Amino acid sequence: MSRSVAVVGATGAVGQDLRRLLEEREFPCDEVVFVATQRSAGRRLPFRGGEVTVRAIDDADVFEGVDIALFSAGGTTSIEHAPRAVAAGAIVVDNSSAWRMDPDVPLVVTEVNAGTVAQRPPKGIIANPNCTTMVAMLPLKALHDAFGLTEVVATSYQAAGGAGQKGIDELEAQVEPLFAERDLLRRDGAAAAKLVESQVHANTLAFNVVPLLGALQDNGYTDEEMKLQNESRKILGLPDLRVSPTCVRVPVMVGHAIAVRARFEREVTADAALDAMNGFPGMVVDEAPTPLEWAGRDEVAVGRVRRDLQDPRALNFWVTGDNLLKGAALNTVQIAEVLVANGLV
Ligand SMILES: NC(=O)c1ccc[n+]([C@@H]2O[C@H](COP(=O)([O-])OP(=O)(O)OC[C@H]3O[C@@H](n4cnc5c(N)ncnc54)[C@H](OP(=O)(O)O)[C@@H]3O)[C@@H](O)[C@H]2O)c1
Repeated sequence: MSRSVAVVGATGAVGQDLRRLLEEREFPCDEVVFVATQRSAGRRLPFRGGEVTVRAIDDADVFEGVDIALFSAGGTTSIEHAPRAVAAGAIVVDNSSAWRMDPDVPLVVTEVNAGTVAQRPPKGIIANPNCTTMVAMLPLKALHDAFGLTEVVATSYQAAGGAGQKGIDELEAQVEPLFAERDLLRRDGAAAAKLVESQVHANTLAFNVVPLLGALQDNGYTDEEMKLQNESRKILGLPDLRVSPTCVRVPVMVGHAIAVRARFEREVTADAALDAMNGFPGMVVDEAPTPLEWAGRDEVAVGRVRRDLQDPRALNFWVTGDNLLKGAALNTVQIAEVLVANGLV
């Protein structure tokens, strides 16, 4: 059977990993269609030893014959063009936030709730979770199964690359000018911060930590923080899960980390938690894993597992994972693999 896969946003940070993973994991397809804006149309991108010419999303027949469309080009693009791909006969796996909370759209972390895509989804669209939520889901699912999760306090340490290629570029552009002024970094940080431009991140990111990530909502939380609550509830099937999120941008290129305090129905010890997490697919336990060391790796790494000092039902731990891989491209390709395994494409 011939199978055609489209990658929408093929020239972006996530798109680049999608292309590589389709190739490395020998995804069963006979044709790929790489799609981006008119700006990129005509660019030639390597694939399986040859080259594929990027097509503009506005081409009327761009989704013709496509069986699976992997969208990674922002919410506006997904809202406008994912239904086009579905109408042309494709199942869409979407990386943006556009469809995640739609009750007719499964929100899938393959190790956690792949069962939600046993049949063709009602709208023909499956959503990939937010990259921070994704990383936290693996240990939280393992612990929930063992102890019954009731509450999560999560503080993220999110990489520049979470804002796409432009987020990486902005951090890169800030490092050298500020390093050259390292005396000023110590003497007058506010003056140093003004030496460089910040358009993607909410403040100067190089040599700094920025505790405002995403658009502020009326309740004082950002949209990024609300995703942690809302998506966690949907993926884990726990509509009443109490979540207290704080999202922070840190000067890391790629790799998100999250400090989590999780509370359970039953008492928990560090050893019992490690037993519950050891062997969970897609996850490894390490002593104190850092985003830098785990960038470019498929697995999510958990460490610093400690029982709360006072509360025998609460646990503190740290988890890190590559936001472009398990946080985005890898999970997308894994969903596509589940669709193939289930005979849906
Ligand atoms: N970065 C992450 O950690 C991460 C994690 C999870 C999910 N996501 C989501 O994945 C998506 C892509 O993120 P990214 O980090 O890869 O961004 P990016 O590096 O900025 O890449 C954006 C891609 O989308 C294409 N694009 C933009 N507007 C388009 C349009 N109107 N029509 C068709 N293509 C268009 C761009 O094409 P051109 O090159 O032609 O402009 C480029 O290929 C976003 O929805 C993001 O929320 C990102």
